Amino acid sequence: MKHSKVIDLLNSTKTLHEVTAKGWVRTFRNNQFIALNDGSTIHNIQCVVDFENTPDETLKRITTGAAICVTGTLAESRGAGQKVEIQVTKLEILGDSDAEKFPMQPKKHSLEFLRENAHLRVRTNAFGAIMRVRSTLAFAVHQYFQEKGFFYVNTPIITGSDAEGAGEMFQVTSLPLDGSAPRNEDGSINYKEDFFGKQTNLTVSGQLEGETFAMALGQIYTFGPTFRAENSNTSRHLAEFWMIEPEVAFNDLADNMDLAEDFIKYVIKYTVDKCGDDLKFLENRLLEEEKSKPQAERSEMTLLEKLSFVLDNNFKRVSYTEAIEILRDSTPNKKKKFRYIINEWGADLQSEHERFLVEKHFKCPVILFDYPAKIKAFYMRLNDNTEPGKETVRAMDILFPGIGEIVGGSQREERYDVLVEKMKALGIDEEELWWYLDTRRFGSAVHSGFGLGFERLVLFVTGMTNIRDVIPFPRTPQNAEF
Ligand code: 4AD
Ligand code: MG
Repeated sequence: MKHSKVIDLLNSTKTLHEVTAKGWVRTFRNNQFIALNDGSTIHNIQCVVDFENTPDETLKRITTGAAICVTGTLAESRGAGQKVEIQVTKLEILGDSDAEKFPMQPKKHSLEFLRENAHLRVRTNAFGAIMRVRSTLAFAVHQYFQEKGFFYVNTPIITGSDAEGAGEMFQVTSLPLDGSAPRNEDGSINYKEDFFGKQTNLTVSGQLEGETFAMALGQIYTFGPTFRAENSNTSRHLAEFWMIEPEVAFNDLADNMDLAEDFIKYVIKYTVDKCGDDLKFLENRLLEEEKSKPQAERSEMTLLEKLSFVLDNNFKRVSYTEAIEILRDSTPNKKKKFRYIINEWGADLQSEHERFLVEKHFKCPVILFDYPAKIKAFYMRLNDNTEPGKETVRAMDILFPGIGEIVGGSQREERYDVLVEKMKALGIDEEELWWYLDTRRFGSAVHSGFGLGFERLVLFVTGMTNIRDVIPFPRTPQNAEF
């Protein structure tokens, strides 16, 4: 008999028929009640074992973590908190799990311990919920863009360029690493002998390739893995993360902000509607955690309230220059714990500045735009009419409470001459990016796009606080165990 998913059994309105379910034992109480989970939902289905007619040998093997197959009658349950249960007539152990050795005991484990067991942590309630929410968000991303007529583009993982010009790339090479790699006369490595005949790396962003497609297909998006060798061991950075990068021909910066805000709200709304039970579980988990904090540090809103708040309010749009003024004006208030002293126009905002703006000042998501040209990437559109020394670019960062930067984007420099001059000033090799410059040579047009860090979005929606806990197998400095 084909087995049913637990989620379908729990939602079943018909009872008293024979069903089969397969899953993993969460708990086994009183030699009689199995809590069975198959991953389809946060909820377990109770399976009632006829222990008098089940051999002791089999009962002993119903342990936490074991894979089993049960067949029985789906019946109304007398137990509290569940509508139906399976009254088991046949039970088969598919895979044993040694109760003494199985690391995922039915108790609360620390997140650190669970990270060390990333291959098993998804069997816990919290990680099951997080990974289902992640999957739903990913689906919503595709649905949003597909409904709006965007085309999905797969940009290369191995590239010859540094899209962000930040030098944070992982190199890819087929050359030997033992010192025997072919050398040029000056002793440097001869990459002509490398697999691709040049130096290559893992992509930090699909933007540049995405732009070439936007200049033909009009509206495109990427959704793929990106890699950064930045040595930031923080709760917001991964060495391998997933990025969503839409790029739209003829969109200016204001259109870009509208798109980003609409997109973020859509995917959150979709997930709130689809993942009610998982989000409720994560909300309760957070409420428990909050109880251990002093009153003053507790969050004013629950997880679902936070999500509704984002859906119901406009993101606040503020220029970099205005933000600096706000930060300066806030400085004299020494009573507050924040250190947000910033005196100089032109300085990059630190995460404490971003947090102050979002969490204390505006108390809502903020879109910061028109950043100083000096602190942003080479491809951003230079604003007209800016004072010499105070040039700004049409950049936008979206800042979220508890997360900081969730989106980075811009209107792109569409003017060939201006772009080439900028590249020269920054020492970016024009020859390397000849194909990128072709977009400005042939039919150039205003266009814009942004990158949303998918894990930062999952962090926000799940209420988790460490980015390592929202990706199946995190890659961080000194850590690629799995
Ligand atoms: O601001 P970033 O560096 O922008 C770009 O890469 C542009 N090329 C995007 C574009 O315009 N198409 O990165 C975009 C977003 C950040 O806002 C952040 O959410 C996320 O990617 N991000 C990271 N997420 C996790 N770990 C890291 N190390 C990240 N670096 C960036
Ligand atoms: Mg950025």
